[in-house]
Amino acid sequence: MQNTIKISKIALLAACSVVMITGCGKKEGPKDKAAQTTPAATVDQAAIDQKLPYSLKEGKRLFSHYCGVCHGETGDGGGQYYGLTPTPANFTDKAFMKTLPDEKLFKAINEGSAAMGKSNLCPPWGKSFNPEETEFIVAYIRTLGGS
Ligand code: HEC
Repeated sequence: MQNTIKISKIALLAACSVVMITGCGKKEGPKDKAAQTTPAATVDQAAIDQKLPYSLKEGKRLFSHYCGVCHGETGDGGGQYYGLTPTPANFTDKAFMKTLPDEKLFKAINEGSAAMGKSNLCPPWGKSFNPEETEFIVAYIRTLGGS
């Protein structure tokens, strides 16, 4: 009995000194911290995505596939098709999104930006999606920060 206590005390001491040694090391640089938080953030995002209702998951999938290339994965208008003039709509911009109530958003998606009196750079998508899919995309766009 006495021995086990002694051994566990030694183990505890050893554990403490390991913590102290590593704690005092140079390892706490900002780079290490970034490296530590990035994977955790990725895991969290995946967990959040998994909990999204089906409509938003589908909306996100369709948006990434068909719209992200111009509007950007985050919807801020900064997709890979850079250099478009005018720039693709920024769905994270609250002031801009206020000008797009649902009926206008549906019309813009179904009939293209030309039908909104704008350029013809945003194609009409009405024949690509069924009405439910368009609803999913609209619901997803509403989550991008501009509402
Ligand atoms: C080829 C690039 C491109 C793709 C792909 C694209 N867009 Fe666009 N989109 C644009 C551009 C550019 C504008 C800005 C047009 C303007 O202001 O004249 C725009 C504008 C819009 C607008 C705002 C219209 C308005 O009245 O201001 C909406 C809504 C929109 N896009 C939705 C979508 C959706 C949803 C998808 C995917 C299904 C999509 N776009 C795919 C380029 C694109």
